[in-house]
Amino acid sequence: MMTTASAPGKIILFGEHAVVYGRPALAMPVTQVQATATVIKRVALPGDIQIEAPDVGLSANVNALPRDHPLAAVIHSVFSALGIDRPPACTVHIESTIPVASGLGSGAAVSVAVIRALSSFVERPLSDQQVNSLAFEAERLYHGAPSGIDNTVITYARPIFFIKGQPFEPVRVAWPFTIVIGDTGIPSPTKETVAEVRRKWQADTERYEKIFDQIAVVVHEARQSIKAGNVSALGPLMDENQALLRDMGVSSVELDRLTEATRKSGAMGAKLSGGGRGGNMIALVEKEKAAVVAEALINAGAKRTIITQIR
Ligand code: MEV
Repeated sequence: MMTTASAPGKIILFGEHAVVYGRPALAMPVTQVQATATVIKRVALPGDIQIEAPDVGLSANVNALPRDHPLAAVIHSVFSALGIDRPPACTVHIESTIPVASGLGSGAAVSVAVIRALSSFVERPLSDQQVNSLAFEAERLYHGAPSGIDNTVITYARPIFFIKGQPFEPVRVAWPFTIVIGDTGIPSPTKETVAEVRRKWQADTERYEKIFDQIAVVVHEARQSIKAGNVSALGPLMDENQALLRDMGVSSVELDRLTEATRKSGAMGAKLSGGGRGGNMIALVEKEKAAVVAEALINAGAKRTIITQIR
């Protein structure tokens, strides 16, 4: 017997970091990249679960990993949520085309895929809400103090308006728009940038709260523009959000170089996406200009690009 589940990557369109401090944010799924988990029955004693994740060089028995290892924890959490003490022996095979530590939600996507594949394997498929809450628990291990936006947008695989601790609101996109994603190729675990912002916020709370408030204004305006199909308003809002992220100290020379290159080649606006420092940036483009902007990104040093349509 065998079951498979996949989950998409994601981008934060507006509002990263400030969302950890209770401000709203907008996130979108990116289906061009996926994490896939396949669970295969094995002839062995119950409880004997093997993880194979060749992309990250992991081949191990769950019981040999520390209980707080993110993958071991997510597997234990599924069985514990289902009240299964002695799960059937199996191999959990994980593959992902989402680059790790790049701001595209690879950790959350792997969790969602594993939770869905395992719960289907034992013929007890979980609701989206249950999947989301288990994935959030796993995110805490990856990220330390996550807002929950990554697991939510990835579980529901649709554009969302998100405020920490509240039910998300689906975003209706009145007019589809095109985003070019550029990867600096520099790994930057979100856990570290989130912790760094926390240290800075503790040292200068007033300044950081002000930045977060300004970001919240941008997010609200962006949401209205998306709802109204006013795509041209989104470019300047992205630039504004990027300037605030730079003030916050989470941009970098490489991210600035890539965002600048997209603007010079005709993008309407650009910003980093996710934790920052390294990882990915996004640019809003007219559809016809997407290929030119993607090429400009490569010329400016991007390791790879993805063109995606938000609808
Ligand atoms: C990561 O995609 C977004 C951050 O705001 C962290 C979080 O919300 O958990 C940087």
